[in-house]
Amino acid sequence: MVRPMHPSSVQGVEDMIRLGDLHEADLLLEVMLITVFQTYTGSILVAVNPYQLLPLYTVDYIRLYCNKRIGELPPHVFAIADNCYFNMKRNKRDQCCVISGESGAGKTESTKLILQFLAAVSGQHSWIEQQILEANPILEAFGNAKTVRNDNSSRFGKYIDIRFNRSGVIEGAQIEQFLLEKSRVCRQAPEERNYHIFYCMLMGMNLEQKKMLNLGTASEYTYLTMGNCTSCDGRNDAKEYAHIRSAMKILMFSDSEHWDISKLLAAILHLGNVEFEGKLSIVCAWSFLRLNVKDITESQNLRTVGVGRDLKRSSGPTPLPKQGIYGRIFLWIVNKINSAISNPTSEKPKNTHQSIGLLDIFGFENFSNNSFEQLCINIVNEHLQQFFVHHVFKLEQEEYLAEHIKEGLLII
Ligand SMILES: Nc1ncnc2c1ncn2[C@@H]1O[C@H](COP(=O)(O)OP(=O)(O)OP(=O)(O)O)[C@@H](O)[C@H]1O
Ligand SMILES: [Mg+2]
Repeated sequence: MVRPMHPSSVQGVEDMIRLGDLHEADLLLEVMLITVFQTYTGSILVAVNPYQLLPLYTVDYIRLYCNKRIGELPPHVFAIADNCYFNMKRNKRDQCCVISGESGAGKTESTKLILQFLAAVSGQHSWIEQQILEANPILEAFGNAKTVRNDNSSRFGKYIDIRFNRSGVIEGAQIEQFLLEKSRVCRQAPEERNYHIFYCMLMGMNLEQKKMLNLGTASEYTYLTMGNCTSCDGRNDAKEYAHIRSAMKILMFSDSEHWDISKLLAAILHLGNVEFEGKLSIVCAWSFLRLNVKDITESQNLRTVGVGRDLKRSSGPTPLPKQGIYGRIFLWIVNKINSAISNPTSEKPKNTHQSIGLLDIFGFENFSNNSFEQLCINIVNEHLQQFFVHHVFKLEQEEYLAEHIKEGLLII
């Protein structure tokens, strides 16, 4: 039976709970109608990726949304950030903001906006705030890549715990990472790239540095060309490299640490070109990894490898050595960032500080060929969805039952 839509669905509402008809078609139309790309369902923000730069995230908007009740102003990611911050201060309880959605939905961008808002309203413009904000370009360079769904797709999950003192001033933060997609280091699907850092390094390093590492252009490396795509529209890899370098300085990476990382990245690229007649690549990889040729050939066969001073020989079978090396570089970088941003004063007993956690994981994805890593990514997303359903619906229902509200009254 065809029946007209409820007028509220046609006009659009700021909170989808106010829709006259809660039907799939009404919800979809609402999402298409929202001119500011954001709407609520109760206390949950539903944000649609606008794929364009909107003038909605300026300092003026931060001021506007600061210390307002949800619903007082049109829906906005800053309203959620504000709600977290002032609930933490008012109720003296830790808060957590779960950002969920499929790949390309805008989770990472929203996380950055929330961080920006928290840094601005907790307001000291301190060195630690700047360090926390500058951790992002480094993590994205080493943990994000171009996929067919998103030019800057997170290939790992991250949980940032931002710690505040009792007056609401940021004291430090701690980042946890989950499940980096290591297979990308050696293999990319058509139209996809390896991790941004490889392309940035090749575009951004000066000739002398490249000569020392015996590096050329991206098109010369097997590991950078498997997706037949070495550049990414709208991304300037050389400029990004300069940004990554300055962020690393802010996060206290020394020049020699940066150079060691570059050598390991170069070694991965050279190992990718090894065909066992390629003497040059083997010699390069040997010198950057401080391995002898026997180790390298054995590692190809036995799939175990020990590299450098800091990366210890692994005890059991590991994935392909190049993936292992990259995985360990990534872990080392996260630890290094944590040592800079987890200010020791924020390690004080729990009752002296409060925190806001931001969860930004890799989104659900479904490609024509899905690997084991897609399975893991999608299972994590399913669990997150279950957690969400449990909190939003089941716990709410339990509360109604506890208050003896009859089921018929639950549907308003
Ligand atoms: N609020 C926004 N305003 C403008 N552009 C946006 C916004 N959110 C996202 N985008 C655009 O969409 C792209 C993808 O967003 P983002 O990387 O945040 O997706 P994601 O949900 O984190 O995806 P994945 O799960 O693949 O990591 C961004 O690079 C940016 O170009
Ligand atoms: Mg992301």
